[in-house]
Amino acid sequence: MNPACPVHVSAGSRAYPVWIGSGLLEELGPRLSADYGLGSRIALVADATLRSYAEEVQASLAKAGFDPVILWVPPGEGSKSLSQLGLLLEKLAESRVDRKGALLALGGGVVGDLAGFAASIFLRGIALFQLPTTLLAMVDSSVGGKTGINLPQGKNLVGTFYQPWGIFADLQTLSTLPEREIRAGLAEVIKYGMIADPTLLSTLETSTLDWQAIVRRSVEIKAAVVAEDERETSGRRAVLNFGHTAGHALEAALGYRTLVHGEAVALGMRVATLLSQRLCGLSESAGAFLDRLLVHHGLPRTVEAVSRARVREALLVDKKRERGANRWVLLRSLGDPVLADVPEEEIERALALIVDRPE
Ligand SMILES: NC(=O)c1ccc[n+]([C@@H]2O[C@H](COP(=O)([O-])OP(=O)(O)OC[C@H]3O[C@@H](n4cnc5c(N)ncnc54)[C@H](O)[C@@H]3O)[C@@H](O)[C@H]2O)c1
Ligand SMILES: [Zn+2]
Repeated sequence: MNPACPVHVSAGSRAYPVWIGSGLLEELGPRLSADYGLGSRIALVADATLRSYAEEVQASLAKAGFDPVILWVPPGEGSKSLSQLGLLLEKLAESRVDRKGALLALGGGVVGDLAGFAASIFLRGIALFQLPTTLLAMVDSSVGGKTGINLPQGKNLVGTFYQPWGIFADLQTLSTLPEREIRAGLAEVIKYGMIADPTLLSTLETSTLDWQAIVRRSVEIKAAVVAEDERETSGRRAVLNFGHTAGHALEAALGYRTLVHGEAVALGMRVATLLSQRLCGLSESAGAFLDRLLVHHGLPRTVEAVSRARVREALLVDKKRERGANRWVLLRSLGDPVLADVPEEEIERALALIVDRPE
């Protein structure tokens, strides 16, 4: 089933559609040739484990009269590096992609961030289309125009704001995505429900999930926030960081092993929810609702491989970057976020909810 109409993202620098449906990859050639006035040379930058999806896109493009070249990216976060960026830019030049050409990013957030960055700087910017194949990339990383790579000194330290020309989220690709990656994406969906739409949370309580509806609603929520604050200047976009203050600290304290990002966010949302109950009047039942959803979707509620002291240290590092204060996203009620500073003793108490060991 294909949707009749896309979700529209209206960022200040570009407006574009997000198509969500099954079978979009095989229809890509005709869709691109009809709507965008592109030249014939197209680079398909693809996660190297997604061979059959890449070949499907390549065939569709060739049939529609394009001249596609596939540029493979090794899977994993390690590919968001200066060296992979350099290789990719050189391959784009060798492949003779020109100003009228386009770059298609096929994969999860890793390929989307790396290839999006490359598209934004190659020939001072060429047309970019995101073809997200993970739930996280569909509901989060492909939307909103943040691109970038990591440095040894930290994650996402180099990058650009560069909105794509269009996004095609083919739900069929979710059929091969490992269960743990699905759950990690669901943590971000739960985040959208917590900050903007309790009804979305209710749809996650059922046993069969309606991906079309879930991805669509999530993209709508992210699009609305991005439309108000494309470059994270007004503070509005910061609400997307619900669960991420403690979540990022956990990931850093664990050396980016043990937990995948969505699992860290799930734990971080428990911390932020308890803080919201204590400081912003969020109801007890909201916390119970979150916990039920985490259990239902196999997301963690506690973590053992770390101590509270380590997480506090990681929070301090984060705090230095933000000039002295962690800005927590808390909730006054479900769907009503607010930015707040949190007293130290409250942080310690809330962390105890997810981490047993003090030292
Ligand atoms: N730009 C943004 O706004 C933004 C937002 C959130 C996260 N991110 C970034 O996104 C990245 C994480 O993205 P991710 O979780 O998609 O990770 P990922 O791209 O590493 O994909 C996860 C794993 O799934 C595999 N995979 C991808 N699609 C598949 C499919 N359809 N079937 C089977 N396997 C598949 C990949 O090879 C990889 O092993 C991080 O680098 C993070 O910084 C960016
Ligand atoms: Zn996240």
